[in-house]
Amino acid sequence: METKVIKIDQKNMCSEDFAEASKLLREGRLVAFPTETVYGLGGDAFDKTASARIYAAKGRPSDNPLIVHIADIKDLTKLASEVPESALRLAEKFWPGPLTMILNKKEELPKETTGGLNTVAIRMPSHPIAKRLIEESGVYIAAPSANASGRPSTTRAEHVIEDLDGRIDMIIDGGSADIGLESTIVDLTCNPPLILRPGYITIGMLREILPDIEYDKAVIKRVRDDSIVAKAPGMKYKHYAPKGDLTIYEGSREKVRDAIIESVKQGLDMGKSVGILASDELYADYMAAFPAEAPGTTQQDMGGKSLGPVIEQIGSHSDEAVVASRLFDLLREFDHRGVELIYAESFESEALGQAIMNRMFKAAGYHIVTLE
Ligand code: TXA
Ligand code: MG
Repeated sequence: METKVIKIDQKNMCSEDFAEASKLLREGRLVAFPTETVYGLGGDAFDKTASARIYAAKGRPSDNPLIVHIADIKDLTKLASEVPESALRLAEKFWPGPLTMILNKKEELPKETTGGLNTVAIRMPSHPIAKRLIEESGVYIAAPSANASGRPSTTRAEHVIEDLDGRIDMIIDGGSADIGLESTIVDLTCNPPLILRPGYITIGMLREILPDIEYDKAVIKRVRDDSIVAKAPGMKYKHYAPKGDLTIYEGSREKVRDAIIESVKQGLDMGKSVGILASDELYADYMAAFPAEAPGTTQQDMGGKSLGPVIEQIGSHSDEAVVASRLFDLLREFDHRGVELIYAESFESEALGQAIMNRMFKAAGYHIVTLE
């Protein structure tokens, strides 16, 4: 299959831009598109064949349900059998935006779309291209993140091409996704309501509307403990993973820096290609420790020899929005540069840090080193 890539400028778009994509969606074909969180791989939520195509294109296990995207709050009733007051209050406050709600599903919605469950995940995205695509096509768009299953989510069209070229019908290139981490998922079918996946909308923001909301246990676990099973089927898999082995260091800034430098030296001594995911605060220290590495140098440039680590600067500990927006991109960048061992600082906080660390812990397979 040939994958057509089209560009749409969100500041200057017209119906014509969406004609072909809308037609494809109505025919049960697949179109990847940008949202404010990550790119989505869209298909008609009410078409079983389209859902089957999504699972096949991603190599995704069929018990892992899809999120259905709508462009109007009123459409909640088209997908959910009942809409509790809490859902309307959350929608009013956070939609359109990076929040997904789990509700009991309407009978008519195929179980192929909901991974066999009687519940459905619903989101109303704020990205102008996503919104317009839903409106122009007249389709409720089922869309998981547009990555190959198990890989980091895609935040740019280039990532989607890398993972899905030849496997889907169209990619709408609308530039970078702003937030860079997937939506917060809230389950409203249980009491108390649960956060199944942390995201840009934090527990603090949600508690202003739902004071008793809690995290699903699996979200906050810090060790690999298979007895704690995630309620969101997709959260139980090893996920967001780069090809290299990621290790996360936490503790005081100096201890983390020294431990990472030591580990990098050991890795290089073993002849491995090594990477550092560096904060703005420690970037200069790493550069000073490994002066051979000039920015932009690849392992190939060094004749396959690891003269120094690949050091990627992710942002400041005090600006988590930037860290969040770059995480998946940089994990992919380590892959491009053939890195086998990645050492990262931890970016812990009560706010967006929860979402960042949830993704990093999974990417690392819970390989966390705590320095006392
Ligand atoms: O930001 C996002 O949410 C992006 C964009 C494209 O909207 N989408 C996204 O979809 O991240 P996906 O499929 O990669 O992640 C959906 C997660 C999975 O972990 C899945 O198991 C969970 O939501 N999920 C979907 N429906 C569910 C349901 N009925 N009950 C529990 N978990 C559900
Ligand atoms: Mg995903």
